[in-house]
Amino acid sequence: MKPQVVCIDDIERYALDNLNKSVADYYRSGANDEQTLAENRRAFARLRIRPRFLRDVSQRSLRTTVLGQPIAAPVCASPSAMQKMAHPMGELATAKACETMDTIMILSTISTSSIEEVAAEASVAMKWFQLYIYRDREVTRQLVERAERSGFGALVLTVDTPMFGHRLADSRNGFCLPPHLRMANFVAGAQASDAIQNRPTDGQSGLSEYAQSLFDPSIEWKDLRWLRSITRLPIVVKGVLTREDALLALKYGCSAILVSNHGARQLDGVPATIEALPEVVKAVQNRCEVYLDGGVRTGTDVLKALALGARAVFIGRPILWGLAYDGQSGVEKVFSILKQELDMAMALSGLSTVTDIANQSTTSSSSPLVVSENYYRSQL
Ligand code: GLV
Repeated sequence: MKPQVVCIDDIERYALDNLNKSVADYYRSGANDEQTLAENRRAFARLRIRPRFLRDVSQRSLRTTVLGQPIAAPVCASPSAMQKMAHPMGELATAKACETMDTIMILSTISTSSIEEVAAEASVAMKWFQLYIYRDREVTRQLVERAERSGFGALVLTVDTPMFGHRLADSRNGFCLPPHLRMANFVAGAQASDAIQNRPTDGQSGLSEYAQSLFDPSIEWKDLRWLRSITRLPIVVKGVLTREDALLALKYGCSAILVSNHGARQLDGVPATIEALPEVVKAVQNRCEVYLDGGVRTGTDVLKALALGARAVFIGRPILWGLAYDGQSGVEKVFSILKQELDMAMALSGLSTVTDIANQSTTSSSSPLVVSENYYRSQL
């Protein structure tokens, strides 16, 4: 019997208690001292919601769109690698859950189910494909073509990973992909498939060695032109944390920006994503959609991100915890909890639609929906 769970933290606790240690460590870890990992959540807690009352909230809707695609609620699945370590159905279960919940799934390049398997399992699901650029451009070109052929609706280029950050537990554990699983987007025997299975050098993570040998650390913003030239799919740039990079992403033709610090797994000491969001939103001035991932665990977190200008949020680790809890149903549970919590947060703050959240936050700075805790401290 699965224990009763009523919030994302309950599901996380279950997952961490039940996953194999090396897998739990890999999913949970942030980089180095994990300062940014803690900040991703703390920064949400430092924000306050100013609720308004007597505003008829009897009819509410969470529906919205991202890149023109209608979704049931502004909560989608971020890419996370190697999901079959969390549940035998891995990415296939996540895709089915996203199909049922009417939301978007981003499939990772380094997944344990292939692009084609996910497309076949969840043909109706709205799927985007996350891309790492390999030193061998032909490898990347083929991934792009396969995603396009398989009906994926956008490419999500991760820009924060010339190499993987240092996750200490992975180095201690000598983390590598369990032998019964594969990097399913690559043919067995090819380096891009098998390098992760090699036992890492002592004191190293196998994933880190995989990335060092295969990912291209020389890519620059101008290489987006190359990517643009080989696809007709919209490109979402994932990993932007500054106004400067937001403007470059726009200049090189991105369709949307995902403000992300890669689940705090890359450079420790970068801001929480909810802290970086306003700077990016201000810089792009509605010229493209802006999304956020990192630290979203409650409906009020979603409300806060939307109030600060995100069109939608994406969740990473909660999907893995949901998989570990109960496969597809576990992931559906995660989305359901966040939807219910967001719905309640909206009702209790006088908001009926997702557009109301966006409007309330932009209409007048004298009536903000979300403020920093200092707003109240400074009045004491
Ligand atoms: C993969 O993207 C990871 O952060 O481990």
